[in-house]
Amino acid sequence: MRFANIFVFLFLLLTSSMLSAQGGDPNAGQVKSATCAACHGADGNSMMGAWPSIAGQHESYLQTQITAIRDGERLAPLMIAFASNLTDQDISDLSAYYANQVMTPKSASPDSIELGQLIYLSGDIERGVPACTACHGPDGRGNPLAGYPSLAGQHAQYTALSLNAYANGTRQTIGSVEVMRDIATRLTQEEVQAVSNYVQGLR
Ligand code: HEC
Ligand code: HEC
Repeated sequence: MRFANIFVFLFLLLTSSMLSAQGGDPNAGQVKSATCAACHGADGNSMMGAWPSIAGQHESYLQTQITAIRDGERLAPLMIAFASNLTDQDISDLSAYYANQVMTPKSASPDSIELGQLIYLSGDIERGVPACTACHGPDGRGNPLAGYPSLAGQHAQYTALSLNAYANGTRQTIGSVEVMRDIATRLTQEEVQAVSNYVQGLR
């Protein structure tokens, strides 16, 4: 049942992301990114673990998320003041700019890497946890056409915050599709920390 839903969801995402693809201007985006730099870094590599790095993220995913934040569908209390006045064109330009930047590679701490790798590559079939690699890919680069974000090199702290926010419902998956919430609620806190650490080391 759960997996049947995931396939319907895959199909919907595929069609909706193809329909919404529209080109932004990265040069215009760079100019508009001045207000974003304080938190996300001038090139999309943030200095604080709780703030996402967005360099090299897929353009379509950036566009969807910034729009959702602007429209209040995704809660981002720190950022909303900077997003609320963006036009659709601004969002396209900003997304094009950040998608063209390069994520700074990081490493994972060796402590929990085995557990993190196990969850990422194999999941836990008995508890209904799918392998992350099935959607986010073995190298963590995701799949832009299907709407699966890149996770590689993301701060472990932000990844763990996101997983917990999916689990407790404060982060809504876009389009009311509950795939990440369903997965995140099945993870223990130890697994959340371990898989977040593992993902930080992917490149
Ligand atoms: C004051 C700090 C701050 C500023 C300024 C800011 N953001 Fe953010 N941004 C955040 C935080 C914190 C989050 C994570 C929100 C959450 O808890 O889910 C976020 C999330 C995002 C995300 C989603 C990332 C992901 O991986 O899902 C994007 C994209 C983004 N911001 C783009 C921008 C852009 C473009 C601007 C400038 C118009 C901007 N932000 C300005 C703090 C900021
Ligand atoms: C069936 C496909 C699928 C599987 C399996 C999956 N994800 Fe996701 N993931 C998604 C989608 C789709 C999104 C974007 C959801 C949204 O719009 O918020 C996402 C978003 C995320 C995000 C937020 C990224 C960001 O930049 O804010 C994290 C973190 C994440 N997934 C981690 C994981 C982990 C860890 C696993 C394995 C335990 C996993 N995912 C398994 C589809 C999947």
